[in-house]
Amino acid sequence: ITPVFCNATLSDARSETVELANIDWDNLGFAFLPTDYMYNMKCSQGEGFSNGELQRFGNIELSPSAGVLNYGQGLFEGLKAYRKEDGNILLFRPEENALRMRLGAERMCMPSPTVEQFVDAVKATVLANKRWIPPAGKGSLYIRPLLMGSGAVLGLAPAPEYTFLIYVSPVGNYFKEGVAPIHLIIEHDLHRATPGGTGGVKTIGNYAAVLKAQSAAKEQGYSDVLYLDCVHKKYLEEVSSCNIFVVKGKVISTPEIKGTILPGITRKSIIDVARSQGFQERLVTVDELLDADEVFCTGTAVVVSPVGSITYRGERVLYNKGGVGAVSQQLYSVLTRLQMGLVKDNMNWTVEL
Ligand code: COI
Repeated sequence: ITPVFCNATLSDARSETVELANIDWDNLGFAFLPTDYMYNMKCSQGEGFSNGELQRFGNIELSPSAGVLNYGQGLFEGLKAYRKEDGNILLFRPEENALRMRLGAERMCMPSPTVEQFVDAVKATVLANKRWIPPAGKGSLYIRPLLMGSGAVLGLAPAPEYTFLIYVSPVGNYFKEGVAPIHLIIEHDLHRATPGGTGGVKTIGNYAAVLKAQSAAKEQGYSDVLYLDCVHKKYLEEVSSCNIFVVKGKVISTPEIKGTILPGITRKSIIDVARSQGFQERLVTVDELLDADEVFCTGTAVVVSPVGSITYRGERVLYNKGGVGAVSQQLYSVLTRLQMGLVKDNMNWTVEL
């Protein structure tokens, strides 16, 4: 892999006008499309990350004994870049992803890039892949930072070397339903997280652990799986890939963060937007969910996805007659208008490139 752009500055890349990649921008889903460049930075255990560089996108070499391959010592992040009508590029709260990666790295015994290193690397990777950022209104560039134990280990121990990588891919809607409501099934036998475990950090194993239930749900026509807490099997946790909110009357509630739920950045942003409208962060029971007026999910990939139905122990509850509820619609609109730069960012959440 050849390093590139080592001496190019961000402002060189910013001012460069590039032609859009030649792909079908009207039919983007959430599938991987290789782009031009990726970011790579390494460090040894006990040292800080340094000498990060952009490289041509391509496969990476790992020892078969790498910590990430053998013992799952790995984390990932997800954030998006949007192209505005005026051609400028917006990132949404990238420093929040950097901070979350640092917390996760501490739990997984890994060193992590500083917030500044993380954000600078994200900016450089986005600008190097500018031609892959969808035109305004057609989608976004999904940014996937990875942190992994890349050094070789055999006995169980933290790896001696770590790699921070960022790759990007243009995306549209996450669920095949598009912007239409999704249909969830509650899983009561398998669990995604346990108290004291790693459910609250974005470690790669959390996502492998939900594939079995997700595949079974998809085979039955559901969009995804909603998990309950593993102790009482009664409190809502999260969906495989996103957080959940319920609306009853004028109150919007979401399960509180207590180590088993991923602290989503979209979740946090929606809470900040909804705070003035009657909001609660608390334990939410499955009975309350089934009795709710409206349900929606939040996440970087899923944005704000309305839930059309929930199936629990063979019974199906429909929300808003299977259509989009007013609260989800309003929050989706507030959030995406901010992310796309269509309104003034009074929250100071967006970073313009
Ligand atoms: C995201 O929303 O960015 C995530 O990391 C979820 C992933 C399963 C796509």
